[in-house]
Amino acid sequence: MSELSAAIQVRLNAYPRGPVGPDTWRLTHDAPGTPVVGQVLLKMQLLSVDPGMRGWITPKRSYMPPVQPGEVMRAFGVGEVIESATEGFKPGDVVTGFTGVQTLGCVDTSMLRKIDLRWASARQYLSGLGMTGYTAYFGLLDVGKPVAGQTVVVSAAAGAVGSIVCQIAKLKGCRVIGIAGGAKKCTYLRDVLGLDSVIDYKNSDLTEALKESAPAGIDLYFDNVGGEVLDAVLMRINRHARIVVCGGISQYADLEQARGPANYLQLVAQSGTMQGFTMRDYMARVPEAFMQLADWHAKGQIQFREHVLDGIESFPAAYDLVFAGGNHGKLLICLEPQGGAKQ
Ligand SMILES: NC(=O)c1ccc[n+]([C@@H]2O[C@H](COP(=O)([O-])OP(=O)(O)OC[C@H]3O[C@@H](n4cnc5c(N)ncnc54)[C@H](OP(=O)(O)O)[C@@H]3O)[C@@H](O)[C@H]2O)c1
Repeated sequence: MSELSAAIQVRLNAYPRGPVGPDTWRLTHDAPGTPVVGQVLLKMQLLSVDPGMRGWITPKRSYMPPVQPGEVMRAFGVGEVIESATEGFKPGDVVTGFTGVQTLGCVDTSMLRKIDLRWASARQYLSGLGMTGYTAYFGLLDVGKPVAGQTVVVSAAAGAVGSIVCQIAKLKGCRVIGIAGGAKKCTYLRDVLGLDSVIDYKNSDLTEALKESAPAGIDLYFDNVGGEVLDAVLMRINRHARIVVCGGISQYADLEQARGPANYLQLVAQSGTMQGFTMRDYMARVPEAFMQLADWHAKGQIQFREHVLDGIESFPAAYDLVFAGGNHGKLLICLEPQGGAKQ
């Protein structure tokens, strides 16, 4: 069988009602076709699995239109151009952007940018030197505005975005408290990333643990999870505290019924602010984030961690893993038979 006829796609089968299940996805083996003007035919090397995918398969107003049932599932990825119908892209170019959950496919170049694997690996372009790193960088520095000496709390702290936020906050001289699920993640945060305090929210009383870890209160909270964790943090915020709403994964199981925080009136009591953001606010400043993150990484001041699974068939399990907290770092799927993109 030729490589082109062996193409595999993961499509959205139907919008999930409540939790995502096996009926949500459909594996197909359609030929990728030929690119038309504005497109390239890509051979994917690496795919990113993101909690935000839950929003992309929910037919509700958001920052992007939802994926339609029957379409290839949207995903960030890295791939190599095999055939081009677009000026500026040629076979052999390596690109990143919205490649979709597929091994081969025709993709609009408006969704892609060329990258150079001499500067960073495919893994890094999808983790610390890609959208994950940029989200941490702009979310913390631009939205959160950390101040040296202040107390910063980060949820999903051992995850892809959270672990980078924690490290940048430390570099900015803050006292950093990480919240994560399970002893292994907490040990990583304390012993490897050097956080000042860690809280295992799955095995502790969060309200008591926050009192103990942040006796002087919380000045900045970088929220990745929402729900009960956000409510507990709200009860400990200081005057003029900032809450950065990066995500709310605890609410993603049923986004149509997502609940806001019960304790939001603490923002009134403490003159606090709570601000959401997405990377589309910052696309023009990506080079700045890339250069700074690459510089910190090269100097050993920041580290990235990836959790890599093999093969496109692992996508449904990978999706479930991120919601079960089973990922240790940025969750990626390697599509190269020899695992080349794992390096
Ligand atoms: N605003 C933006 O532009 C933007 C961009 C990228 C990501 N995000 C958001 O940032 C957050 C983190 O994304 P990521 O890619 O870095 O993922 P991640 O942190 O690598 O993985 C998600 C983690 O969330 C935790 N989690 C899962 N279910 C949970 C629940 N019900 N309650 C509390 N924690 C739960 C798990 O960690 P534990 O084991 O510690 O529970 C899991 O490992 C997500 O909310 C995502 O939507 C936003």
